[in-house]
Amino acid sequence: MKKLLIALVALIPSLAIAAGGGYSHPLEKAKIDLEDKASLQRGAALFTNYCLGCHQMQFHRYNRSAQDLGIPEELVKENLIFGDQKVGEQMTNAMPAKESAKWFGKQPPDLTLIARLRSPDWIYTYLKSFYIDESKTFGVNNAVFKDVGMPHVLEPLQGTQTAEFVYTEVHGEKTLSGIKLTQKTEGSMTPEEFDQAMHDLVNFLEYVGEPSKLESHKIGTWVLVFLAVFFVFIYLLKKEYWRDVH
Ligand code: HEC
Repeated sequence: MKKLLIALVALIPSLAIAAGGGYSHPLEKAKIDLEDKASLQRGAALFTNYCLGCHQMQFHRYNRSAQDLGIPEELVKENLIFGDQKVGEQMTNAMPAKESAKWFGKQPPDLTLIARLRSPDWIYTYLKSFYIDESKTFGVNNAVFKDVGMPHVLEPLQGTQTAEFVYTEVHGEKTLSGIKLTQKTEGSMTPEEFDQAMHDLVNFLEYVGEPSKLESHKIGTWVLVFLAVFFVFIYLLKKEYWRDVH
């Protein structure tokens, strides 16, 4: 029994890695802090500049972001909306669905709920793990999303990476145990700046997945305060009722 338990526990990390999909590349941790408005604002700007051209957020409106993140609507109009859309509209683009499926082999999916679907850590690692692979249409592949149809749109910021496949031999059989990514050319950001930018972008995607989380955290605190005060009154009331019995 004990042995079985140990075997099961030993399996957990490999299961976690397998769940990432694609190669067995370990996931890095995304820093999620929904209280960090500045980070969320930077993430929103990155999203509209680098992602919205292909990916829509059909279930999220510009003015919801404006309200929640404390961005004046004027600034949203100037900096986050490129077409002739209004602030009350959803974050959509004009990319024809059928055509885009032809261009990329797959239609770029809506990203409103992507953080809940894939997990912030997966997206964070995904965005950092594009590497050069000349055999692919766009010249890149991805360490957590094998044969991905998305081009490396952040290359100007990150630069390029090469991949080295690490194999281990188990019982004479070679299995892929990891992918080592190495910077090849530099982008406009240092690796630290790029990491921070990706934290911001994933933070924004996490917020969009459940915008009411910001509010419910605040309400939750008040509910606890209310319950504490309420408890005092209930206690006094109980004492009052039972006074004659004791
Ligand atoms: C030039 C078009 C294009 C741009 C710009 C683009 N993507 Fe993509 N993206 C795609 C396509 C196409 C896919 C589908 C890939 C596939 O399924 O093989 C995809 C897939 C993804 C996925 C994986 C979705 C899944 O299947 O789970 C994520 C996450 C993602 N993109 C995030 C982003 C983010 C964040 C940005 C902005 C930094 C971005 N994309 C910019 C085209 C694009």
